[in-house]
Amino acid sequence: MQRVFSGIQPSGIPTLGNYLGAIRNWVPMLDQYECIYCVVDQHAITVWQDPKELARQTREMAAALIACGVDPDRCVLFVQSHVHAHTRLAWIFNCVARLGWLNRMTQFKDKAGKDRENAGSGLYVYPNLMAADIHAYHATAVPVGEDQKQHLELANDIAEKFNHDYGVDFFPHIDPIIQGVAARVMSLRDGTKKMSKSDPSDQSRINLTDDADAISLKIRRAKTDPEPLPGELAGLDGRPEARNLVGILAAITGVTPADVLKDHAGQGFGTFKGVLADALVAHLGPIQSEMKRLLADPAAVDALLRKGSDRAAAIADPIVTKAEELVGFLPRR
Ligand code: TYM
Repeated sequence: MQRVFSGIQPSGIPTLGNYLGAIRNWVPMLDQYECIYCVVDQHAITVWQDPKELARQTREMAAALIACGVDPDRCVLFVQSHVHAHTRLAWIFNCVARLGWLNRMTQFKDKAGKDRENAGSGLYVYPNLMAADIHAYHATAVPVGEDQKQHLELANDIAEKFNHDYGVDFFPHIDPIIQGVAARVMSLRDGTKKMSKSDPSDQSRINLTDDADAISLKIRRAKTDPEPLPGELAGLDGRPEARNLVGILAAITGVTPADVLKDHAGQGFGTFKGVLADALVAHLGPIQSEMKRLLADPAAVDALLRKGSDRAAAIADPIVTKAEELVGFLPRR
């Protein structure tokens, strides 16, 4: 059976972008693949995280995943820092990946901003750790949103160079699985920027924990243009905010954007936003109740994660030990 790996950073509350672009696609994979899903706290500290917040957010992220249907009995669900194989392999990959490759990573440029000299070095080598996350399990399929595509290409380059340098066929090729109309959900304030848990403006995103009032207010305030909705997809060209809201309604109700336009052609955003907000509230309500129920017993969530990390380590340790042997490290025992 093909093995799937994916990860999510506990750097905030999961957004509608995380949910529609990734988490929701993780769930049906439980039926078809051996799935390994990880809350990547080591990635999160590549930018400053308050220590108390980070621990809480890590547990909350795990609860959010379970509430969205990522059933820990049907996959391996765990926290990255609990399985040391990731950083052992990441070090080897730091030595395999070329600086020129890392220099091309657009996410580093975006996150480091203008003050590059002051960015943590972890932020720079982050894609090497991400490659290690996946290759430590010999996973071959990785469900992600559009923004992670470049990192996965790099993970394939690293695997190829490792295989070539050491004369082996050890790390397999990875296929990104980027699905659906919501592979790139945009900010509610700027249709050209992705919706992100780290955007300073909370109005730019729907958090999975937002209540009905917050969702309605954020959708009502979402940036749009003065034109009514068109009847055809071509009518959304040059209207990124309108395209984004249409895409969100399509994804949440399980229809195509063309169907959404058929139903709402000629409508102004006042009416359309009401429909969208109602659909979001109805969809996210049950997830929020389940999250609350799970977080009422934090020790139970932690116990599930401990079990997950034991299972993850049992898969990753032999693979990474073999990689260390291929590199020429003296065996530990
Ligand atoms: P992260 O935590 O930023 O996001 C988690 C997942 O959500 C997707 N996503 C989006 N999809 C659509 N629209 C958006 N606005 C949006 N924002 C986020 C992301 O593409 C991602 O799939 N580097 C990764 C975490 C990671 C990982 C891995 C993923 C670490 N190791 C190994 C896959 C395999 C990240 O920062 O995701």
